[in-house]
Amino acid sequence: MKHFLSLEPFDQPTLVELLDLADQMKKDRGSHSSQPLSGQTWAMIFSKSSTRTRVSFEVGIRELGGKVLFLAANEMQLGRGEPIKDTARVLGRMVHGAVIRTYDHQDVMDFAHFGNIPTINALTDHAHPCQIMADLMTIRSKLGDLSNKVITFVGDGACNVATSWIYAAMKFGFELRIASPKAFSPDASLIAQAGDKIKVIHRMDEAVAGSHVLYTDVWVSMGKEEESASRLKEFEPYQINTAIMNQALPGALLMHCLPAYRGKEVTEEILEGHADTIFEQAENRLHAQKAILSWLAVEGR
Ligand code: CP
Ligand code: NVA
Repeated sequence: MKHFLSLEPFDQPTLVELLDLADQMKKDRGSHSSQPLSGQTWAMIFSKSSTRTRVSFEVGIRELGGKVLFLAANEMQLGRGEPIKDTARVLGRMVHGAVIRTYDHQDVMDFAHFGNIPTINALTDHAHPCQIMADLMTIRSKLGDLSNKVITFVGDGACNVATSWIYAAMKFGFELRIASPKAFSPDASLIAQAGDKIKVIHRMDEAVAGSHVLYTDVWVSMGKEEESASRLKEFEPYQINTAIMNQALPGALLMHCLPAYRGKEVTEEILEGHADTIFEQAENRLHAQKAILSWLAVEGR
């Protein structure tokens, strides 16, 4: 049984196969007749808010011929304390696949194990692998070969998006810099395994110089709202603004997984100046999700 819970277990050829499939899905949208999810119903169980991930999966499942059931976790018995392993064993007998957004990464792993149906991580506190697939797709289409690029993630180096970027860099071999306050550095053991192409740099000028891509995310991830005041203060020097953008390579891309908080991690002017890239990145969530879904539907049985 195949799942898509993190980039960690995948090798580069498999990820490239998925990115190629995503490019194909984008090119063929509206004209392809393949319906790999025909006859299937997929459940989407979300414990956190979502716009892009929810819509791209719902539309993607339908475009691939499947039916979709959106389940807000707090309206399920899960929200009243039913264990994830029981929820998984029930749904596993009724639906053909699951897309889960939640807090604890162990919950998606347990669901995959007990549900015994293809399971996709639509974001946990630990990782956001589907996002990074759309990001890699976007960078590849704009800048070509990934392996010789310098990609700089600016913000919370310990968050889900940064962690998935670290796994992506380990697979593709590009230089990844994480520009974060010291207290928000990535997990030290992960960095120790990651090799010397992944650098944690606390000074913005050092991190940004020579970058092909600057990438940012919210300073306060979902679930961290109680830390808002201290985070907003600590992250202030890490805002992407005109002065910072000018220190990257000429023509550098600015990417943001969205939602964006203007005046916090990025200024209005810079975000709007790079809107074409950022909203194409958001659109690519749909194509990348469809690639993941169809790959699982074929491989998962
Ligand atoms: N980038 C992303 O995952 O967006 P949503 O939270 O809107 O799904
Ligand atoms: N790091 C952010 C990503 C949102 C898509 C969060 O977890 O809220």
